[in-house]
Amino acid sequence: MKVGVLSGGGDAPGINAVIRAVVRKGILHYNDEIIGIRDGWRGLLEGNFACLDLDAVSGILHKGGSILGTSRTNPFKREKGPETIMENVEKAGLEAIVAIGGDDTLTVAHKMAEYGLKCVGVPKTIDNDIPETDYTFGFNTAVSIATEALDRLHTTAEAHHRVIILEVMGRYTGHIALHAGLAGGADVILLPEKPFAVEEVCEYIKRRRQRGRNFSLVVVAEGAKPKGGKEIVYSERIDEFGHISLGGVGYYLAKEIEKCTGIETRVVVLGHLQRGGSPTAFDRVLATRYGVAAIDLVHQGLYDHMVAIKGNTIVPVPLSKVIGQRKTVDPELYEIAKIFFG
Ligand code: F6P
Repeated sequence: MKVGVLSGGGDAPGINAVIRAVVRKGILHYNDEIIGIRDGWRGLLEGNFACLDLDAVSGILHKGGSILGTSRTNPFKREKGPETIMENVEKAGLEAIVAIGGDDTLTVAHKMAEYGLKCVGVPKTIDNDIPETDYTFGFNTAVSIATEALDRLHTTAEAHHRVIILEVMGRYTGHIALHAGLAGGADVILLPEKPFAVEEVCEYIKRRRQRGRNFSLVVVAEGAKPKGGKEIVYSERIDEFGHISLGGVGYYLAKEIEKCTGIETRVVVLGHLQRGGSPTAFDRVLATRYGVAAIDLVHQGLYDHMVAIKGNTIVPVPLSKVIGQRKTVDPELYEIAKIFFG
């Protein structure tokens, strides 16, 4: 078969491991021809392709980013976008597409099925908010990076008797904040799922001071908001899927905490450090398993599905069960984290 592969949306460590697995299994096991599509759906709109042979995917397992590039292009926002995609797919002779992406990319994959595109999805996002899968690849790496940051901030916060706020990614859900906060021993963790009261955050910090702990670490997801308030927006620019850039909640909190506790408070915004660089061993293995399963699904003809991990088993899930929803944090895990607040 002639199979195309693309990566769309924000990058996540492990994309290259997926591509490598699709190419290796596709060529060596199924005798496929694999075509790389550059920059997500934009590559299909523009007919921007690259031949992916075994050489092209050699030495990329440990590399971050995507050898194909990525973009947040939404074909449904372009004049005759879906039709153009179908024309280019036919011209290139592509019989199926493996789409590596998060909610936006997978939604396009699902909607394109109506136009006759045969797609299999691979769940990718550091945010880990895709339903019907325990893990997206990239999440484990992001959590490791945020945990290391917390370990480093711990010693300097303690030495200076400061509050340090670590702002992590997580637009709609707080999986990274919760996992890294738990692993890094944060004294307060703030999530988009649980609007916060500044007074409560300050109470935790004051309680620590009463116990002689003159420093605190606060982890906040970029999408966390005060009770009755709104998310803090970094830029009014809205992307083609309708997302606004978030960022700055850490600075808002720092001012409030200094006001009510009198303790010097500093902020670190981890930003794209969470997305760049090498994937962890866990993400390399998960991404490899996803890539192999995706090309298997193509050959089983199970389109309009996504590969997922449940327990330790890779399973197919219909895209209709996945899109337009978000997997929020496990409330039990949040209750465990709360034991360590303050
Ligand atoms: O969707 C993943 C994510 O990392 C979000 O956590 C974050 O809000 C967003 O991407 C940032 O995207 P960009 O790099 O396009 O600003």
